[in-house]
Amino acid sequence: MPGSTWYAASEAPFCYDAGLGPRNVQPPEVMMSMPLAPVLDRLDRDFESAVERLCTLLAIPSVSTDPAYAGDIRKAAGWLKGELNSMGFDAEIRETDHQPIVIAHHAPPGGEDLPHILYYGHYDVQPPDPVDRWDTAPFEPTIVDGPHGRRVVARGAVDDKGQLATFLEAFRAWHETHGALPVRVTVLLEGEEETGSPSLDAFLSANKDELSADVCVVSDTNMWDIDTPAVTYMLRGLVYVEVTLHGPGHDLHSGMYGGAVINPINALARILGELKDERGMVQIPGFYDDVEERSDEELAQWARLQFDEAAFLAHAGVRTPVGEAGRTTLERVWSRPTCDVNGIWGGYTGSGAKTVIPARASAKLSCRLVPGQDPQKVYDGIVKFMNERTPPDGRWEISQPHGGSPAVRVPTTSPFLEATMRGLDATFGRKPVLMGCGGSIPVVGSVQRILGFDSLLVGFGLEDDRVHSPNEKFELQCFQMGMKSHAAILSEFAAMSASRVGVARACS
Ligand code: BES
Ligand code: MN
Ligand code: MN
Repeated sequence: MPGSTWYAASEAPFCYDAGLGPRNVQPPEVMMSMPLAPVLDRLDRDFESAVERLCTLLAIPSVSTDPAYAGDIRKAAGWLKGELNSMGFDAEIRETDHQPIVIAHHAPPGGEDLPHILYYGHYDVQPPDPVDRWDTAPFEPTIVDGPHGRRVVARGAVDDKGQLATFLEAFRAWHETHGALPVRVTVLLEGEEETGSPSLDAFLSANKDELSADVCVVSDTNMWDIDTPAVTYMLRGLVYVEVTLHGPGHDLHSGMYGGAVINPINALARILGELKDERGMVQIPGFYDDVEERSDEELAQWARLQFDEAAFLAHAGVRTPVGEAGRTTLERVWSRPTCDVNGIWGGYTGSGAKTVIPARASAKLSCRLVPGQDPQKVYDGIVKFMNERTPPDGRWEISQPHGGSPAVRVPTTSPFLEATMRGLDATFGRKPVLMGCGGSIPVVGSVQRILGFDSLLVGFGLEDDRVHSPNEKFELQCFQMGMKSHAAILSEFAAMSASRVGVARACS
């Protein structure tokens, strides 16, 4: 894979055990003196305080899309910096053109040869809207009981404050138990992921040396189900577009003009309706040109996962799968591109009736991209699609609120992935699933492209967590298993330094 530092699959057998890993490898001395068991005990004993700390962070409304919350964004960044400094990190807030980034470093004494891991999370959250659909206030985190025990309900509970807290709590427990972490760690906490990470690429380019590491660990994805951990190896990309169709020079009386001149809402609705045909195929010119098909073997692997489609639909409050003909629901979400209208407005939407032909109509659209597709080409295709349908007297205004991001894949063979799998397996007593994800996380592609290494996507969310929706929640069981998993994965990374010596020898 271009830009990847993973060992090529063909090299793997020479460098590490391709089964579930080098359990027989002797841990280096630093590790023998830093056992995992007391770290896990500490996480159990300290769990209630960890929940309280998470609630403190969740109570800060760090919404990145709305400038009204700029002070809270800063407050969240400052709180995180303080936490990191209290657990053996050297943490700082770095300014960008948009939201501040928290950077922290930890170098265990005498650990120059240990693996170096970059941990990523985002402390910004989506707006809480529609606020009246919440059962409890979005920024007053509330613990409620559910079928899996206690859960915390708040905006950002799982996306991404609860998830970034899983690795922070693991760091804290390692530090408090052993006075240090077992590997070198850099932490990057971003405050603008939900707005498409507009400052991230420039920040990574300007701080390339400081952010160099062996691998990036990202906790912002899901598990397979509450008992089965997962590593995500594919993310879809995103192109976001806002379109306005202008018509009459000003709003008109719909009795005087109705039926005789362009109505931009009628026209826009018809055009948006043409975005997909009756087989669910997107009609944007060139949309499918570069789409990579998954191999039969990969599709067969997905089929073996026994995805519970009925439960997936039920979590969305529907019963009928809808999408591209001839594709399963997992394919549609993980590996097929799509285009959706995310918002639409114009004319009169207040109470009562106003008889008006509006001067303009607008919509927000997003395309989810898969490997092979170029965001710029898709954007150009959208512009062409609209221009080919401009009605007489119509005029388009088309813009992108943030840059597009391509889909990303991370290799499914590497010593770091194997170490992560071992850590998850040991924590859950169950083999982790390798899965796809329909969402996007811009940092993964940026780290690949700019810093030149790959990411490990290991997250603890569930399908029914209501990300970006009212009543977002995080299961406390997932929170606890997540922090224990990260503690165990750290231990496995540390044990790799012994095998890394082996790697160097075997490959030199
Ligand atoms: N954490 C999500 C991505 C995600 C969604 C993972 C669902 C697992 C399940 C991330 O914060 C997100 O929402 N990303 C945005 C990206 C965008 C604003 C550039 C997305 O996918 O819409
Ligand atoms: Mn997220
Ligand atoms: Mn999100």
